[in-house]
Amino acid sequence: MRKKIIAGNWKMNKTPTEAKELISKLKDKCNTDKVDVLFVVPSIDVTTAAECLKGTKIKLGTQNFYFEEKGAYTGEISAKMILDAGAEYVIIGHSERRGIFKEDDAMINKKLIAAHKFGLKPILCCGESLELREKGTYKAFIEGQIKSAFESISKEQALNTVIAYEPIWAIGTGKTATSDEAEEVCKFVRETVKNLYDESVANEIRIQYGGSVNAGNAKELFGKEDIDGGLVGGASLKEEFINIVNY
Ligand code: PGA
Repeated sequence: MRKKIIAGNWKMNKTPTEAKELISKLKDKCNTDKVDVLFVVPSIDVTTAAECLKGTKIKLGTQNFYFEEKGAYTGEISAKMILDAGAEYVIIGHSERRGIFKEDDAMINKKLIAAHKFGLKPILCCGESLELREKGTYKAFIEGQIKSAFESISKEQALNTVIAYEPIWAIGTGKTATSDEAEEVCKFVRETVKNLYDESVANEIRIQYGGSVNAGNAKELFGKEDIDGGLVGGASLKEEFINIVNY
């Protein structure tokens, strides 16, 4: 049985002071071990958030890092820094990083390799644009994203990776994929993993859906066979997140 994983992606929101306030509102009612709960905060908030979450079951992640170990990379943060500050997960390949910051498949592959090398648990995002959805070529596109991200990733590392399927047209738009649309692609992602590794990896790897998940649609989405939880943006900044975690 795969344990659901529900992650709040705060994106570029909340100062350390505000993070403290939000966590104090959410933490008691999100403190469960029925599902894995994750707050994925801006890296500047990690130290504060780690302190606030001490003694809870809630896990901490951040939204980006650079694949080199250390050195002259002005403005970047390393896996070691994130881990030392108290986070264990990292999002890789979010469509906002791919689109706004021009991260390509090769960069995302390097980050996935580095996350495993340095001991961060990655949440790898994939997902198509509205244009590809309408053209009908979205599955081939997503298959390409997954194959390229997992190049040189071992079976054990694959098992330690979470995949998030996030159709770009559903992110921050209020337009959620229907549960059938989300299930169709999550199932397809699982098949892709099976082709890359084997059935046991495909059965064990956790695949989230993301894109306008809210308290009203979480139950239906997370009830689908191949959807193992969600990557939640907007609704993770509100008390609504409590209802998503306790769907
Ligand atoms: P959203 O964002 O829930 O606000 O649509 C999801 C995400 O981008 O991870």
